[in-house]
Amino acid sequence: MEFKATLKQYQQQVEQALDLLLPPANTRPARIHEAMRYSLDAGGKRLRPTLVLLTAELFGSSADQALPAAVAIECIHTYSLIHDDLPAMDNSELRRGKPTNHIQFDEPTAILAGDALLTYAFELLAKHYCEDASLATALVLELAKTSGSTQLIGGQMEDILGERSQYSEEQIEFIHLNKTAALLATSFVMGALVAHASPEQIAVIRDLGTQVGLAFQVTDDLLDATSDSATIGKTVGQDAAADKSTFIGIVGLDGARQRARELTDRAVELYQQLPAESPFLLELIRKLEHRSK
Ligand code: IPE
Ligand code: IPE
Ligand code: MG
Ligand code: MG
Ligand code: MG
Repeated sequence: MEFKATLKQYQQQVEQALDLLLPPANTRPARIHEAMRYSLDAGGKRLRPTLVLLTAELFGSSADQALPAAVAIECIHTYSLIHDDLPAMDNSELRRGKPTNHIQFDEPTAILAGDALLTYAFELLAKHYCEDASLATALVLELAKTSGSTQLIGGQMEDILGERSQYSEEQIEFIHLNKTAALLATSFVMGALVAHASPEQIAVIRDLGTQVGLAFQVTDDLLDATSDSATIGKTVGQDAAADKSTFIGIVGLDGARQRARELTDRAVELYQQLPAESPFLLELIRKLEHRSK
């Protein structure tokens, strides 16, 4: 099947599961459940949950088995975006082609919707994997570590600290690694955990996911600098406006493009070390380097 059609199938599978597994919008208090669903339903590429499903399949599990983990990671990712967009953070008004959560609702609701999605992710994991207690624990540990103060939140902290100051390449790499690459790597790892991959296989897939994640953030910064809101569905030019240190500031646009290419090549090399093949996953990794949104 053609690449785009296959990708759409995975996205639809994720979206059906999101609808099924999130509390209905009319659950009391309706406002919080509407706000949670608003940002989830707004769309997005569904990259992380798709990677969970693909990796689970790669290591011999069914996508169905991995769906709750896929939804959990999309909840964490969406919470991180809602909070990232708040006036106290990046102060963005557009996300996934729609007004950001705090614009559509208000700041208190957006803060709570983010908190609720963060918490719900762990409820999903505990609930849906409880029959295999060691798997449930491994998934919770993996996602909690990645989302915590040394990784996703730590990356966001240094990102904010880096506004209006000149960061070194090492500091920018720390930010990319933690605010973005850690959760992307965890998407691969959670799929592998669901499929009971070996620790050695998980080490390779984590490394692969980290390279994909680093490339992803370099490209995100490139899009912020070169694209337009209508194409990417979110506010652009924000990094420059906030005087954020990025790779582009240090190595320029071409240097950043080259870096995304090198990271993608490294991910492809790691893919070749895997015990099984997923031509679609390989194509997805390659296509991310040239994504336009
Ligand atoms: C945006 O992630 C935030 C970053 C880590 C760069 P995505 O580009 O995956 O956002 P959605 O999910 O498609 O909206
Ligand atoms: C945010 O990075 C990464 C998160 C953990 C949310 P950005 O601030 O660059 O993400 P966008 O560009 O707003 O999506
Ligand atoms: Mg940010
Ligand atoms: Mg932002
Ligand atoms: Mg950005």
